[in-house]
Amino acid sequence: MERIVIEGGSPLKGDITIGGAKNSAVALIPAALLADGVCTIKNVPNITDKDALFDIVKLLNCKITESNKEIKIDTRDLKNVLINEELSVKLRASYYFMGVLLSRYKHVEIYFPGGCNIGSRPIDLHLKGFKALGAKVTKRGHKYILDAQELKGNTINLDFASVGATINIMFAAVLANGRTIIKNAAKEVEIINIMDFLNKMGAKISGAGTDTIIIDGVNKLSGTDIEVIPDRIEAGTYIIMGALLGDNLKVNGIIPEHNKALFSKLEEMGVEFSIEGNSVTINKCNNLKCTNIKTLVYPGFPTDLGQPMSVLLTQASGVSIMEETIWENRVGHYPYLQKMGANIELNGLVATIKGKTPLKGTEINATDLRAGAALIVAGLIASGTTMIYDIDYILRGYENIINKLTNVGAKIKLEKI
Ligand code: EPZ
Repeated sequence: MERIVIEGGSPLKGDITIGGAKNSAVALIPAALLADGVCTIKNVPNITDKDALFDIVKLLNCKITESNKEIKIDTRDLKNVLINEELSVKLRASYYFMGVLLSRYKHVEIYFPGGCNIGSRPIDLHLKGFKALGAKVTKRGHKYILDAQELKGNTINLDFASVGATINIMFAAVLANGRTIIKNAAKEVEIINIMDFLNKMGAKISGAGTDTIIIDGVNKLSGTDIEVIPDRIEAGTYIIMGALLGDNLKVNGIIPEHNKALFSKLEEMGVEFSIEGNSVTINKCNNLKCTNIKTLVYPGFPTDLGQPMSVLLTQASGVSIMEETIWENRVGHYPYLQKMGANIELNGLVATIKGKTPLKGTEINATDLRAGAALIVAGLIASGTTMIYDIDYILRGYENIINKLTNVGAKIKLEKI
């Protein structure tokens, strides 16, 4: 067991380089199993979610090698076996193997996906898509069994622009007979990364990044290579830290376009930053203005940055509102921010945050991945020592976060307990 220990108050100066996007990589790795051959995936982030997916890929008898953020997956001996609960509950993205194995073998057996406790995390939209393509879905306890005589293209209207359902339906449709149209598709940029990978394999997909995606089924997909796009949520988390403690903090390897919603909010709050190419330099803002934020699907303000952003709002003068609209339980960080001295009134998923309040270091717990990131942000600005427990959540999604922060002057370390 380990905890993160932070001595707050150090300015952040120097360079941080952003890794590959977790929410791309966790879909690209299963996607490689759609191809009969060898795929290379570059710029894979060094996060524990990757290791959990590797275990499933190996269980399915694929060869996987890794060197310096580049992985090769050989699927020529793939065996479509049951994906057991111990493996599938480690992360939510295990559900991508449903669409992939249904597509290739018209049969898949897998247990419920896992993931942070930020809501009930149903997969009804995924299953609705699979059924629309001709699959029969049987649930036995915690196990799903999907079977299809044939997968036939269809038009699927998503009740909600679900990222996972959009990607999983793409997987299930890419080898189906005929055309599939996904309406009200999620527009997150990671979906474009997945479409590019599948099209390089020989798929015929268009429209990713818009609310209508068209997939014309093909017979076979072959091995190819793809690069994971930069992680806009990792980038946004460090940019928020820069607005609180930056002394010419330079965040490199970003795609500024992907963080437009964050940048416009920071401008509204009076934060000064300069963007050159794929880097942004940001400095501490001493007169943060309050603002109101509502998390939305892309290109709105991302739910995954709502928690770190709420810490920034505690340092803005006046009353700010942070409203979470995507996950019904993404509020686990607030009690700990209150314990540190933040003046927050939570009403359901709407937090009224009165600033500017000094935060004081204390013992706190990460309740989910981005809550953990928010607590690190809080510890970095708090006076005194902050100790964060249950940090496995954080290591799932932020590669080398202790080193990246230490390298720019943060007093942060991992401590065995
Ligand atoms: C992806 O989750 C991301 N995870 C999440 O990031 C992110 O918060 C989310 O998209 C929204 O951007 C990965 O990509 C691995 P959704 P996903 O399907 O696909 C409801 C992080 O911190 N819903 O868009 O699971 C669901 O309950 C993680 O990196 C259904 O009702 O999200 C939620 O309210 C957290 N039925 C909303 O849609 C379904 O079948 C958003 O879900 C599917 C989803």
